[in-house]
Amino acid sequence: MDRVTDSHSFAPMGFDDLDWVVAQEATLHAFPWTRGNFVDSLNAGYLHRLMFEAGVPIAYAVVLGVIDEAHLLNLSVVRSAWGRGCGQRMLEHLIEEARQGAIRQYFLEVRPSNTAAIALYQRLGFAEIGRRKRYYPAPEGREDAIVMRREL
Ligand SMILES: CC(C)(COP(=O)(O)OP(=O)(O)OC[C@H]1O[C@@H](n2cnc3c(N)ncnc32)[C@H](O)[C@@H]1OP(=O)(O)O)[C@@H](O)C(=O)NCCC(=O)NCCS
Repeated sequence: MDRVTDSHSFAPMGFDDLDWVVAQEATLHAFPWTRGNFVDSLNAGYLHRLMFEAGVPIAYAVVLGVIDEAHLLNLSVVRSAWGRGCGQRMLEHLIEEARQGAIRQYFLEVRPSNTAAIALYQRLGFAEIGRRKRYYPAPEGREDAIVMRREL
C-alpha cells in the first residue's frame, strides 16, 4: 500500500474513544495499558492524540509534558497500517505540537527487543542516553528500557 499522504488528520483522544483504543492496545502490545491506565492518564491531563486516515482512526499516542520536556508514553499504529509511514507521521505531528508548546526536549523509553520502534525513533533524530535496568515486564522476567532523547 502507498505511504501516507495528506489524507491524515489528528484529533484529541477522549473517554468516548476508549473502547476502540483499549481494543487496539490489547492486540498491539504484549503488556497493554488497561482501560484504567487510559482513564487515569486522561484524568491527569496528559496529551492524547488520535490519527485518522480518510476519517478512520489508525494510530494513537499519549504524551506527558513537564515544563519544557515531553515524554512519549504510548505510540501505537494499528497493525494493518504498519510499515507505510503512519508511525513516523504521528511522531512528526507530536514533535511539531511540542515545538509550538515551547518543549525543548523529547524523551521516550523503548524495549531493546522493539527494533521497529527503535529504528523509527532513530530515523526521527532520537538518540540513546541511557538504560533503565529491568524496567519492563517481559515474557520471562524483566526487560531493560532504552531511554532516548531528541532536542527540539
Ligand atoms: C512501532 C510502530 C509505531 C511503527 O509504526 P509504523 O507506522 O509501522 O512505522 P513507519 O511505517 O512510520 O516506519 C517509519 C520508520 O520506522 C522504522 N520501521 C518501522 N517498522 C519497521 C520494521 N518492522 N523493521 C525495521 N524498521 C522499521 C523504519 O526506519 C521506517 O522507515 P522506512 O519505512 O523508510 O524504513 C508500530 O509498529 C506499532 O504500533 N507497534 C506496536 C506498538 C509499539 O511497539 N509502539 C512503540 C512502543 S515504544
